[in-house]
Amino acid sequence: MSAAPIDLLIRNARVVACDDASCAVAPRGFIAIAGDRIAAIGAGDPTLGEPVRDEIDADGALLTPGLIDCHTHLVYAGNRAREFEMRLQGASYESIARAGGGIVSTVRQTREADEDTLFAESAVRLQSLMRHGVTTVEIKSGYGLSLEAELKSLRVARSLGERFPIDVRTSLLAAHALPPEFAGRPDDYIDEIVQRILPQAARLGLADAVDGFCDTIGFTPAQTRRVFEAARAHGLPVKLHAEQLSNQHGAALAAEFGALSADHLEHLDEDGAIAMARAGTVAVLLPGAYYFLRDSHLPPIELLRRHGVAMAVSTDCNPGTSPTTHLPLMLNMACTLFRLTPAEALLGVTRHAAQALGLQATHGTVELGKVADLCLWDVDQPAALAYEIAGGALRARFKNGVQHPLQ
Ligand code: NIG
Ligand code: FE
Repeated sequence: MSAAPIDLLIRNARVVACDDASCAVAPRGFIAIAGDRIAAIGAGDPTLGEPVRDEIDADGALLTPGLIDCHTHLVYAGNRAREFEMRLQGASYESIARAGGGIVSTVRQTREADEDTLFAESAVRLQSLMRHGVTTVEIKSGYGLSLEAELKSLRVARSLGERFPIDVRTSLLAAHALPPEFAGRPDDYIDEIVQRILPQAARLGLADAVDGFCDTIGFTPAQTRRVFEAARAHGLPVKLHAEQLSNQHGAALAAEFGALSADHLEHLDEDGAIAMARAGTVAVLLPGAYYFLRDSHLPPIELLRRHGVAMAVSTDCNPGTSPTTHLPLMLNMACTLFRLTPAEALLGVTRHAAQALGLQATHGTVELGKVADLCLWDVDQPAALAYEIAGGALRARFKNGVQHPLQ
């Protein structure tokens, strides 16, 4: 046992540890937490020399790391239910975007919302994520597309992390779509990003990373490269929405810049997978968007496996392609739609998701010295977490060693 005083002792937990092939479940044991860290892990009952402030009997529940949702657009106003209806009548996501709907319609609503309203609407989604076991979330801007509105969105994301028991990592996604005032002048908008928006966001400490949307309805590889160069100049890591609707070789471009992740990847080719493997860039898979857009072009899971690219799984929570806050449902979809194994899916929302945010040294596994972000689940085996369709098996959620009610 460690010498530090124990703030919380969880007894009778069955700790889950996954590698790429499978998840192992340890026999009933204990986890001791000191401050916000895991101070001891052991089998059976602990023999304690130190006083224990608080104690919980897990009664055989499975214990996993707190879930990490490493790709969301959670801060936005309004919804796009009308476009959902249009798509049900045959309109495509691209045609709606080209007609001035899509991302730009959420931009209008997000610009109009004052900061408190944006906070309140986003907080509802954040609390829902937390109810489903999420302890760390990445939140992108990208529905502001002007200096003021991008900074407003990032400030809201930061305040959410201050107000709720969850870690928020922010990404500046100014290169998400062309704002209407720059119609026909995409390169001028890229100038605006690299000369004003990105430097300001960096100077104010509002962005932990920089993201982009490299696609036919987004930005070209050359434009994306300029954004990445500016990110590098400001010391910010990059990530990219890559190969979602077409193959622009965005994943290889992201890898060239040592990207934390390349995300979506339905149209990734082998050269892209090899480049990602070499750079240690995580593949973030977003089955909610694949499902919601009724995509039929599967991401090349076998290629990713063959080249040893770490795979993460995320909600992509956004109003246009993935209006969900249910990360455990994404486990089921990743297995059912993409044929991930339940172990791969669970790694995708824990260790590999931590890696996609650059947090692997402190988060994503239940290990001595790591941050005590933990979940207890009322299931008998890890595969049951991916097996249930939008199940409600979460019994308890601990953030920085503190249990918070699942309200
Ligand atoms: O991750 N592909 C670009 N961005 C989002 C969708 C944004 C929207 O439609 O509002 C995505 O799918
Ligand atoms: Fe996205």
